[in-house]
Amino acid sequence: MLDKLIRKKGGEPKTDNADRQLLDETAIPGHVAIIMDGNGRWAKKRSLPRIAGHHEGMKTVRKITREADRLGIKVLTLYAFSTENWKRPKPEVEFLMRLPEEFLGTYLPELVERNVRVRMIGDHEHLPPHTRRAITRAMDETAGNDGLILNFAMNYGSRAEITEAVRTIAKAVAENRVKAEDIDESMITDALMTAELPEPDLLIRTSGEVRLSNFMLWQLAYTEFWFTDTLWPDFNEDRLQEAIGVYQARSRRYGGVDKEDTD
Ligand code: FPP
Repeated sequence: MLDKLIRKKGGEPKTDNADRQLLDETAIPGHVAIIMDGNGRWAKKRSLPRIAGHHEGMKTVRKITREADRLGIKVLTLYAFSTENWKRPKPEVEFLMRLPEEFLGTYLPELVERNVRVRMIGDHEHLPPHTRRAITRAMDETAGNDGLILNFAMNYGSRAEITEAVRTIAKAVAENRVKAEDIDESMITDALMTAELPEPDLLIRTSGEVRLSNFMLWQLAYTEFWFTDTLWPDFNEDRLQEAIGVYQARSRRYGGVDKEDTD
């Protein structure tokens, strides 16, 4: 199936669906991070309660996880709950905190079968015990898998993450384990919750909002951004492929210049 949708090097471009992109399978982004936004508006458009939008959004998580796996993406980070989301009405927060249980209760066997490894970034200590239990169980049961890493950002805030990293390094300096002048970018990278993950290659935000909302501020320094008006519950395989197609057409220079532009 994959070879029908992806342009094989040197081969004929093929597709079985006019909407689908012809992707270069040698340039699939390794790490895709997504700010899943627009669940509330999706529900409102249908005169449904906001939680109905979150529930539909959970189904999109499954769809996009499968597609990411199929395309050969190595890490998929999903912003599921921010440190600021506690400000929402209590019933909505409670519903969101039940979603990992429902999602993993239903799909964990499928994730195990697909060799997906579940991970989490964020402050897990302050999650309700039932949420923590569901995520910990999924992480334990998939710890030996070496396929797609499905990384949930849950009770995650980038400023809090960076603050904690600074604290860790400051402690090491105070205890004479590190000299202040030896602090470098890699030390900070290694003190973040994403230490074992590559930096995102592609960031997607749905629903038309164009901001980062305290998401992976350090890690996104050289990431390509793609924004879509599509609301998260309507996001699908075609939109993901569209994002990757745009990503593949971009030139990543990391502050340098393209070879052909050198004098
Ligand atoms: C933002 O949309 C979305 C969230 C705060 C929650 C995202 C959660 C999911 C998509 C489900 C997560 C699933 C698992 C398995 C953890 P919004 O509510 O701010 O939408 P709005 O801007 O339209 O109001």
